[in-house]
Amino acid sequence: MTYEIALLPGDGIGVEVVDATLPLLEAAADRHGFSVETTRYGWGSERYLEEGSMMPDDAIETLEPYDAILLGAVGHPDIPDHLTLRGMMLPIRKAFDQQVCKRPSVLFEGVESPLRGYEGGDIDFVVYRENTEGEYADIGGHEHRGYGHEVAVQTAIYTRAGTEAIVRAAFEEATERDGHLTNVTKSNAQAYGMVFWDQVVEEVAEEYPEVEVDRLLVDAASMDLVRRPDEFDVIVASNLFGDILTDIGAIVSGSMGLAPSANINVEGHSPSMFEPVHGSAPDITGQGVANPLATVLSVSMLYDHLGEEAAAADLWDAVAEQLADGDAPRTPDLGGESGTTAVVDDLRSRL
Ligand code: NAD
Ligand code: IPM
Ligand code: MN
Repeated sequence: MTYEIALLPGDGIGVEVVDATLPLLEAAADRHGFSVETTRYGWGSERYLEEGSMMPDDAIETLEPYDAILLGAVGHPDIPDHLTLRGMMLPIRKAFDQQVCKRPSVLFEGVESPLRGYEGGDIDFVVYRENTEGEYADIGGHEHRGYGHEVAVQTAIYTRAGTEAIVRAAFEEATERDGHLTNVTKSNAQAYGMVFWDQVVEEVAEEYPEVEVDRLLVDAASMDLVRRPDEFDVIVASNLFGDILTDIGAIVSGSMGLAPSANINVEGHSPSMFEPVHGSAPDITGQGVANPLATVLSVSMLYDHLGEEAAAADLWDAVAEQLADGDAPRTPDLGGESGTTAVVDDLRSRL
């Protein structure tokens, strides 16, 4: 079996962590009797600065046949973020109907949480983030600027299909975990989209009587992810709220550098995309200290998605074993002094 994987390293540390992870991606495949053929596309902000666009016009057609996509990060300090992100990454999530974004937050053994009193194993939840519409719907926007009475309109869209897809995926996950789902909305202020969302959750809940459902408003949920992160199992949230909650999830479980994600095309007609939750981190770009583990864990999720569970488990376990080993190299975000390469080399020896 050979899988074709498109690599989109993107910008900043995205390039560093994707390049660093490749030997591990190949080693895990070798050990489990399948092969991967990777094709690297150097799309991103450098291209934008030279040619005026992040990706070529036929980028989506080019990516369509791949079995999966591995993305690093997008964003450049000299270019407005809405140009770079809306020129790459966001259109890929949308074009390939990657409606379900799965983002686990795990406090690994040997990792220190900034929260007092939590130890490895205490925090383990997963956020299901709606990924193609909601507050990120790129339609119906409007601006009237520079005439004194300025107005800018940003719409949010919740379709039955999109909302059901994410809610159903979250319930399915809950049945495979501890059977506990937390629905996070803001239906006290947003009477249309969020009340509709709550209604969809109630309807789908009837198909999953074994799942215990509770509700939190997003402000309270943000507080509770800091106050009692150990009590969450599966969280389902809209696009923007899921984005925010997963940065909180990343830091309470140790670092942005440890948080992986999957953008899943549920129907399987187009490739799914895997990427660390973090961005291009211009503050540390070029220093060789970016933590590659979020990307390694994202590759693990990629293999799991392709049905290569053993390879997926190998990568995940190697990361867990390294983090639990007090003598293993660590990047500065985890309190260490090692660089990206040392961490990857050490992992390679554990595979
Ligand atoms: P960021 O995630 O890039 O960085 C936030 C902080 O976390 C920084 O201090 C950074 O050094 C640290 N950090 C992140 N990843 C790390 C890693 N692997 N190892 C060690 N430290 C790490 O978020 P930001 O600073 O808000 O955004 C920077 C750029 O990235 C912006 O252009 C933004 O739009 C973009 N961005 C892109 C994505 C993506 O492509 N998926 C995600 C988030 C932000
Ligand atoms: C993420 C990022 C993106 C998002 C940004 C860069 C558009 O923050 O993947 O979490 O909000 O989806
Ligand atoms: Mn984010």
